[in-house]
Amino acid sequence: MFDDRTRCAVVVGAQWGDEGKGKLVDVLAEQADFVVRYQGGANAGHTVVTGDSQFILRQIPSGILHAGVTCVIGNGVVVDPVTLFSELDALTERGVATDGRMFVSDRAHLVLPFHKLLDAASEKSQGIGTTGKGIGPAYEDKVGRRGVRVGDLRDMSRVRTFLEERVARANRMLAMMGAADLASLDEHVDLLSGYAPRLNTLTADTGLLLHRALRAGKRILLEGAQGSLLDLDHGTYPFVTSSSTTAGGAAVGAGIGPTSIDAVLGVVKAYTTRVGNGPLPSAAAPADDERLRKEGGEFGAVTGRPRRCGWFDATVVRYAVRVNGLTGLAVTKLDVLDDFEKIPVCTGYELDGRRCEEFPDEVELLERVKPVYEVLDGWRASTSAARRLDELPSAARAYLARLEALAETPIRYVSVGTRRDQIIPVG
Ligand code: IMP
Repeated sequence: MFDDRTRCAVVVGAQWGDEGKGKLVDVLAEQADFVVRYQGGANAGHTVVTGDSQFILRQIPSGILHAGVTCVIGNGVVVDPVTLFSELDALTERGVATDGRMFVSDRAHLVLPFHKLLDAASEKSQGIGTTGKGIGPAYEDKVGRRGVRVGDLRDMSRVRTFLEERVARANRMLAMMGAADLASLDEHVDLLSGYAPRLNTLTADTGLLLHRALRAGKRILLEGAQGSLLDLDHGTYPFVTSSSTTAGGAAVGAGIGPTSIDAVLGVVKAYTTRVGNGPLPSAAAPADDERLRKEGGEFGAVTGRPRRCGWFDATVVRYAVRVNGLTGLAVTKLDVLDDFEKIPVCTGYELDGRRCEEFPDEVELLERVKPVYEVLDGWRASTSAARRLDELPSAARAYLARLEALAETPIRYVSVGTRRDQIIPVG
C-alpha cells in the first residue's frame, strides 16, 4: 500500500458498511505510522482478529493493535466518551498499551446521553433503522452550531452553562416527540465532569499533528467507517448515516488538505450485505440470504441485528469507484462463497424495462430497479489457506477477474478469512 509515492492513503467501505475495513486497516497498519478515524462514531464496529483474540473497535482506530502506530480520532468523528473509555480500558485489560498513542481532536463533537434519547424518539417516526448511538442528533447539533466539542471540556464552568441550555432544548424536543424519557441535566454535568480530566489528556490539535507528520514523511492511514452507500450526500438518502463516509470526508474529517491523499482503497465484500432499512437491489432469495448470513456470520457488530445478504452488485461498486475516486479494491470474505455451486453477480439494473447503467439518484427509483444477473461457476473448495493469487482455484480467480472488470478498478488485496495472515496481496 505504502511506498515512496504513497504516504497517505484512505480506506473506505464501498458498499453499505461491514465490508471488513477493520481487518484491512489492521493489516495495513503494520506499514503505517498513524491511523486516523475521520467520521462516524460508536455506530461502527470494526472487527479485528489477532491470534485467538477478537477485538471489536467502535471508536478507536483499528491501528491500535500495532504498538508502533499512533491513533487519532479526527475532528469529523462524534465522540461518545463512555464508549471511548470503556474501549480504552478493555484494551488495557487485554494487554494493549495505549498510553501516549491516542489523540482526540479538540474539534470533534461529543455524543451526549440526550442525543441517544433523541435518536430513539426520531426512529419511531422516521424508521431509518439506526444503531441508536445518537449519531444523527449529534451531527445535527454540530451543523446547528450548538454542539459541545471535546476541546470545550478544558473549561468545565463554560460547559455547565452550555449544558443547561442544550439539555433544556433536547427535553423540549423530546416532549414534542412524545418521548417517555427526558434527559437529566445533573446526569450530563456529572458525566462530563467525570470524563473531562481523562479526556483532556488525549485532546490535541490533531490536524496540526497530522500536518507535521506528513511534513516529516510519516505514513498515514485514514480509516473510514460505515460505507459509501451510507454517505449523507451520496448514499441511499434518507437511509444513510449522518456523516461523509466517502473519501472526500477523509480530508475534512482528519483536518488535512485533499492534495495530501495519494491513494484510496475501496473495501468490498465478495457479496453484499446491508443492515438497517433501505433498498438492497441484489438481495438474495431467502435460502441463499440465510446461507450467506450463516457462512459469513452476518450479524451487526454493534447491534447484533441480522444483516440482509445479497450478491455482489457491480453497479454499487462502480458508483463507489466514482464518488470516492478509488485507486484500488480489496475484496473480502471470498471464503464465504467457497461452497456455492453457482454465484450470481449483479452486472446492472433494469428500470421500467430499460437497462440502467448508473446508480439511480433517488431511493424510490432504486426500490423499483430489477437486478440483471450473470451467473458464474463456484469453486467448491476451500480458499482460506491461499496466500497467493495462483493458489486460488481457477474458478475463484475467474470470479475475481470478473468483479475487477465490472468494477473497472484493480483488485489490490483479497481476504480469505478473519485472521491477519489470511490475505492475498495482488500485483
Ligand atoms: P446511524 O449511523 O446509527 O444513524 O444509522 C444510520 C444507518 O446506517 C442505519 O441503516 C445503520 O444500520 C447504518 N449503519 C451505521 N453504522 C453502520 C456500520 O458500521 N455498518 C453498517 N451499517 C451501519
